[in-house]
Amino acid sequence: MSGYSAYEAYRMQAVASLRGRVLEIGAGRGANLALLPAGVSWQGLEPDRRRHARLRKVALRHGHGSAPLRASAEDIPLPDATVDGVLSVVTLCSVDDPQLALSEVRRVLRPAGRFVFAEHVAAPAGTWSRKAQRVIAPLSRRFDHGCDPLRETESIIRRSGLEVRELRRFELPQPLGVRIPYVVGVAAR
Ligand SMILES: C[S@@+](CC[C@H](N)C(=O)[O-])C[C@H]1O[C@@H](n2cnc3c(N)ncnc32)[C@H](O)[C@@H]1O
Repeated sequence: MSGYSAYEAYRMQAVASLRGRVLEIGAGRGANLALLPAGVSWQGLEPDRRRHARLRKVALRHGHGSAPLRASAEDIPLPDATVDGVLSVVTLCSVDDPQLALSEVRRVLRPAGRFVFAEHVAAPAGTWSRKAQRVIAPLSRRFDHGCDPLRETESIIRRSGLEVRELRRFELPQPLGVRIPYVVGVAAR
């Protein structure tokens, strides 16, 4: 399997492990709804109101009736210990304060809850890919939902107080020989 196929396969497997009430942070336009297993009760959270109509439509198509929360992951409008799972797919690169977002994730998870993530991370220092990320960063921060390609998201997750149970690293090939590292995994509260 190529880097991309392996990434997709493991991401699908990790998302399919979610159960019960699931909060998806930075749900965007609902690209991950098709991956959720049957029986999950999905609650989306998305601060960009321009994405809500599409998100709601896709959610309804997948049988999820709850209106997405218009809020940021740094201030989740849910009580403590009320969800069984939290899903984040390329969202921690975009939030303003990933440490605060992850402390909110911990707060809303039930004791046996799991956090499933699939995130791109900074390429190793000194590599061509890291240089490319540095060049693209001002543009992506401005025009791609605040996305910071230089964010050390794996370390941030490991320092968050969540316990990483599974983590796999992938390198996804991009044009001009750039290879962007991704981490996909599951952490417990
Ligand atoms: C690259 S998109 C990913 C969307 C979706 N997760 C997907 O896999 O297609 C990043 C998303 O994070 C959202 N976002 C930005 N800042 C956020 C924040 N502070 N809290 C939660 N979501 C945020 C953006 O509006 C955008 O929808």
